[in-house]
Amino acid sequence: MRFSRDIKIAPSILAADFANFGAECRAVEDQGADWIHVDVMDGHFVPNITFGPATCAAIRPHIRGVMDVHLMISPVDAYIDGFAKAGADIITAHIEAGPHIHRTLQAIRASGAKAGLALNPGTGLDGVENLLDMIDLVCVMTVNPGFGGQAFIDMSDKVARLRALIGARPIHIEIDGGITPETAPLMARAGADVLVAGSAVFKGGSVADPAPYGAQIRAIRAAAEGALGVAV
Ligand code: DX5
Ligand code: ZN
Repeated sequence: MRFSRDIKIAPSILAADFANFGAECRAVEDQGADWIHVDVMDGHFVPNITFGPATCAAIRPHIRGVMDVHLMISPVDAYIDGFAKAGADIITAHIEAGPHIHRTLQAIRASGAKAGLALNPGTGLDGVENLLDMIDLVCVMTVNPGFGGQAFIDMSDKVARLRALIGARPIHIEIDGGITPETAPLMARAGADVLVAGSAVFKGGSVADPAPYGAQIRAIRAAAEGALGVAV
């Protein structure tokens, strides 16, 4: 994975057909997705359950690019090696998921995956500064985690302060929740480079009719790049 701050669109398979993950991953990549975002939920840290390492391992061969695994689970540490062995390129854990986030991030890096740190909307940047040398990504949640299709919560100010804190370090800022062509420009302008989008990518399309996926990915990208003044 070469580091770049170019805008990346990461469709969340939480909004895909759960009976057809492999084909859905191939379809969104063919339609222009940069990363595939994989939402793991445990029914304990968040009020919803999705799937675990076995499903990640099953979909891995269907992803050509980056598999971005977002763990909404607590505890985390006992499961890290399972997700790394499943082929996760990035493993993101929540700062709220336990008392020892430093140990968790160490374990993620030791597993060979890139380490991500996720922050709920109610969590500030206190503590992030001490972790900057051990992370590759910060995921700023713009919904309370647990479900797709929720209303966007504007975290522009937090993202801008985080961007300043990161400075020249090669750390991605990812935004997760409620991203659409309307909300993407705010986040790009504040300093985000990875935009996760579930419902806004998958709505109205299917494996049999994937063109809406492409149109929706291009619309989000164009809105974000437009806000940065990138020629589109
Ligand atoms: C929320 C998940 C998100 C979610 C985004 O708990 O982490 O990745 O799928 O879905 P949308 O884009 O529909 O808000
Ligand atoms: Zn997510």
